[in-house]
Amino acid sequence: MKQLKMIYAFYDKNINENGDEFLQKISWKGGALIAPIPPALVSCGTMEKPNALTIAWTGILNTIPPKTYISVRPTRYSYDLIKSSGEFVINLTTSAIIKAADFCGVRSGRNVDKFALTGLIPEKASIVACPMIKQSPVSLECRVSDIVSLGSHDMFIADIIAVNVDEQFIDKEGKLHLDKCGLAAFAHGEYFELGKKIGTFGFSVRKKNKKHK
Ligand SMILES: Cc1cc2nc3c(=O)[nH]c(=O)nc-3n(C[C@H](O)[C@H](O)[C@H](O)COP(=O)(O)O)c2cc1C
Repeated sequence: MKQLKMIYAFYDKNINENGDEFLQKISWKGGALIAPIPPALVSCGTMEKPNALTIAWTGILNTIPPKTYISVRPTRYSYDLIKSSGEFVINLTTSAIIKAADFCGVRSGRNVDKFALTGLIPEKASIVACPMIKQSPVSLECRVSDIVSLGSHDMFIADIIAVNVDEQFIDKEGKLHLDKCGLAAFAHGEYFELGKKIGTFGFSVRKKNKKHK
């Protein structure tokens, strides 16, 4: 079988003469270290009294029906807002609003109006009563289906009942260009803007003459 050619540029120093050892790992105790993850801005509350907090413990759980989760410490001001309404919105964060996202992750809506202080604008959602964030290119309206207590955090499992996308990132063919949004990523305490495209889904096995659409 033909082997895939891979690039070990970063690990060159650690390849032995057989080429079979290219990483030297140190083992730490278990911890929450997956990167990159989204520093999502989760909005909750109402249009009249909106709140937002930053959530990194989020992701997709299922495709059909589309399900997501956010893990929230019960001590957060937002926790009761989400639990009592059963609704929240996940707003993707970009480099343009990363400072606001960080602020929403270090200040509580118990004490401050985060929308007023950051300039984030609450926008009416299509189904849920809580607001979306206008400056975010993609806002997912979510309805809670289950709450699972895990320890430090409770996981709100939710159905994604509507996806709202800024039309300036949709081309004439209806294709969404997330690469044009300046999406932010969070990795081990640091924020990054997504950079160079290094592949597309399935490109490792795609025939060269076949165009991917
Ligand atoms: C990058 C980042 C990621 C965070 N991720 C989470 C998270 O996944 N779950 C959580 O409960 N808190 C998380 N936080 C902390 C909350 O966002 C923070 O405590 C916030 O002030 C809570 O706001 P609230 O009291 O208005 O609800 C994160 C903070 C930052 C800066």
